[in-house]
This record gives sequence, structure tokens and C-alpha cells, in this order.
Amino acid sequence: MDVIQAIKERRSINFFEPGKDLSDDKIRQLLELASLAPSSMNLQPWRVIVVNDPERKKDLRKCAFDQPKVEEASAVLIMVADPRSVEENLGKVLGSWVELGYIKPEALETYKGLAGKLYGTEDSLTRRYFALKNTSLYAMNVMIAARGLGLETHPMDGFDEDAVKKTFRIPEDKIVPMLIAVGYLKSGFTLLPRAYRKDFKDFVTFNTYG
Ligand SMILES: Cc1cc2nc3c(=O)[nH]c(=O)nc-3n(C[C@H](O)[C@H](O)[C@H](O)COP(=O)(O)O)c2cc1C
Repeated sequence: MDVIQAIKERRSINFFEPGKDLSDDKIRQLLELASLAPSSMNLQPWRVIVVNDPERKKDLRKCAFDQPKVEEASAVLIMVADPRSVEENLGKVLGSWVELGYIKPEALETYKGLAGKLYGTEDSLTRRYFALKNTSLYAMNVMIAARGLGLETHPMDGFDEDAVKKTFRIPEDKIVPMLIAVGYLKSGFTLLPRAYRKDFKDFVTFNTYG
């Protein structure tokens, strides 16, 4: 499937076929494909918890205002944005850049300084934005890639973040921007037509905001 078709076909599916297995290989294929997403300085500040155990899906459903799709989907992905990724990944990113010839070894300190300036301190709002925006790009790639692989998805922010963190042992400093249910459309269900989208003229201007 080409990317235009995948974008057009992606929908938020409310009714998943319960009990339909999604193999570990398929999940891996999906999450690896999505990790080709761009990220600030290639720092990839995302983590994913794959919830596919039936009991754990029940636990997650309780944290997600009892949304049935959390239990019915083959798997639910807890997207985790990690503000500490700058400290964790910068060395690896810059090392690979040197190795591949993107930058010269003598430029390393300049890039470290730049990252410090751009992404703030670990507990800053700037750092939280950094983690959130990049993890959201990853999440979008997951949804498009899923469609390309013949899967359906549904992003959700209807959940209690503290409860999700507690139940899935996610450290306090991390952020959970969304859950993504993944699976197959329940048999016998057809989707309603896609709902309202803003007109081009209502959200696009050229060269200035207003
Ligand atoms: C970040 C995010 C959070 C969302 N949270 C929920 C949710 O908790 N429950 C739900 O039913 N739909 C949720 N949605 C789905 C939206 O309602 C849906 O994307 C929108 O209505 C457009 O429909 P479409 O995705 O089929 O084009 C969410 C979507 C996004 C992007």
C-alpha cells in the first residue's frame, strides 16, 4: 500500500475484533518501521509498552475510563515520552554521526552544547515539549505504518495518566501522551463516513499567521 492510501484509509476504529492475536513478530515489524520517524537531533525520546496480556488489558481498561476497545483490541501501546532521552541517547547519536561521517570528532563538543541549549534541563518545560512532540511524531508513524500492514488503530488520551503510570510501573518523570489500540475491525461492522475536517482556507495562510 502506498503512503497516500495508508493516510486516507487510517481511521480511529472503535470496534475491534476481540480475541484476535497479533504476533510478536508483527508488533516488532510495526514498531521498528515506525521508529524511522524523524526526531530532534535523532534523539528518539519515545518508549512503548505493548499491552497484549488479557489481564493487563483489563487493568489498562480500568485506567482508561472503561473504554471497551482497550480490552477488545489485539494490543494497546502505551506511548511513553522520556524527557531524560537527551542524557541517555546523545552520546550514541553523536557517536554514530562521527562514525558515519556526518560530523567531525572535533565538532562533538559544539553539538553537546547545542543540545544543552535547545532542550533545556531535565525538569524544564522545554524538555517536556521536546519529549512530547517527538513521541507524538512516532505515534503518528505507528498509525500510518499499521494501516500499511493491514492493521487498524485508535489513539486515546481518555485515561488517567497517574493510574497508568502506577499500574505499569512507569517512572514519575515520564509522560504518557496517548495510548494506541491496535488490531482488526470487528466483523460485521462498517465505519461511518469520516467526520468534519477544516477547510484548507480555515487553517492555512501563506507567509504570515493572519
Ligand atoms: C491524541 C488523541 C487522543 C484521542 N483520544 C481518544 C479517546 O480517548 N477516545 C476516543 O474514542 N477517541 C479518541 N481519539 C480519536 C479522535 O476522536 C479521532 O481521531 C477523530 O475523531 C478523527 O477521526 P479519525 O481518526 O477516524 O479520522 C483521539 C485522537 C487523538 C489524536
